[in-house]
Order: sequence, then C-alpha cells, then structure tokens
Amino acid sequence: MKWKKRYEIDVPFIDQQHCEWFKRVDQLGRAIEKGKASVEMATALKFVVEYTQKHFIDEQAYMQEIQYPGAASQHKLHKSFEKYIVDVLTNLKRGKDVPAQQLFQFMTDWMKEHILKEDAQIAAFVSQGRGTDASQTPAQNSPDDPLKEKLDELAAMRASDLITEEDFASKKSDMLGNFAAGPCSAAGADSIFKLQKLKTYIADGLLAEADLDVGRQALACNVNVGKELGRLNGNKARMMHLKTLLDEKIINTEQFESHKAEILSQM
Ligand SMILES: [Fe+2]
Ligand SMILES: [Fe+2]
Repeated sequence: MKWKKRYEIDVPFIDQQHCEWFKRVDQLGRAIEKGKASVEMATALKFVVEYTQKHFIDEQAYMQEIQYPGAASQHKLHKSFEKYIVDVLTNLKRGKDVPAQQLFQFMTDWMKEHILKEDAQIAAFVSQGRGTDASQTPAQNSPDDPLKEKLDELAAMRASDLITEEDFASKKSDMLGNFAAGPCSAAGADSIFKLQKLKTYIADGLLAEADLDVGRQALACNVNVGKELGRLNGNKARMMHLKTLLDEKIINTEQFESHKAEILSQM
C-alpha cells in the first residue's frame, strides 16, 4: 500500500493526510503479512482507526467550510467505513478471529476508490472556483434551493393525499429533467455539481436511489462537456472532471475518448 502521485487530488492538506493514512495502513499490512499476534495487529489497526477518524473529521469540516454539495453523501460513506474498521478492532480486542487478509484488501480497495472517486470531486469543486471564495458558493448566497423546495412541496401534497402516487412520480421525473436541463445556477454549476446535489437529496430522504438514475440520464442528455471542461484551469483538472463524468455514467467511453484526445492535443 504505497502512496502514489496519482492519488493526489491537489488539495494539499488532504493529500498530506491521505499520505499519512496510507503509511499507517501499510504498517498494518506488514503486521498482517508477518502473521503477527492479534495484540500487535490490534495496535496497528488502532493506529489506523484513530487517523481515519481524524481525517474524516478534518475532511468533513473542510467540505462544510467550502459548502461542498456532496458533503452529505461523503459523510455517509465515511461513517460506514469507520464503522467497519471499528467493528473489526473491537473483535480483535475481544480475541475473536479476524480474516486479516480480507480486511486489508477491503480497506486498501476502499481507500483508493474513495480518494480517486469521491475525494477527487471535492478538488474538482474547488478548482472550479466555487469553493475557496465564500462569495462564490451558491448555497450561501441563495438560501432558496428551488428544486428542494419543489420536491418538498410535492412530497407534502402526496402526504396529504392531494395528488396520487402516479402524479407524484411523473411530476418528480419532470422536475429532475428540468433540473438537469436547466441553466447552470450560481457560479457555474455543472453536471457533477447537479449530480452531487441529487445525492444529497437522497441522503435527506427527498429522493430515492432510483431517482438518481433518472437524474443521471437527464444529465447525460443535457451535458455540454466542452463547456464544462472549458471552465476548468489546467489539463489535469480537465482530465479529472472528464474521468468523473465517465465514472458517473454521464458520458460514455466514446465521448470520454474524444474529449481526452482533445485535451491531449492541446498540451
Ligand atoms: Fe473522503
Ligand atoms: Fe479523504
């Protein structure tokens, strides 16, 4: 579990913490490899748990500070990972048998994927100039969240039996479509920003998982990749954004390849 440059997301304090996090997990990996006694493994894992908790607290505070729209779904992911490793530690301390190799594999896979997929989006958000300057963060300056308000209103109408389940479902999918097609709101919200926003609505219980796919499809139909990439500073940021669009299934491989070629041709 070695730290590599490709895991850097270009937010210095986060990169630094991720690097330390990797080091501690690497130590745990070595303890496992040597078949160390469970007491020693527990010590190494405790060392990892403590740093994981610190990192998540710091990262969450940062997301809040920059008003990152995906903070709620990140928080959820952090929580479930934290619970997993704390449970393993508890079992180890109680002298229970722990499938160490599996644990290690799961942890390292999770961390790499989380950094490259989720944490990288925090950096993309910042690099689009929406994070660092509070005056540019949409959430702070526009207390009203039009889609959220509409969804709330619609849910209230359904709850009072004023509309049918069918009305509710069809209107909701209209709303998602309009949201995806709608103008980029304050400070240039792009499709990833919109998707993150939809994810927060899931975390808030306003939308169901299936709605996310509807939103994703609507975003895929409306995305203007060239425009979104054009807003970013630097080719690495553009490539990261492009990769996120692909990972989030907003663009397909063909679109990815053609934009990648364009980015590379400009270097
Ligand atoms: Fe994270
Ligand atoms: Fe992180």
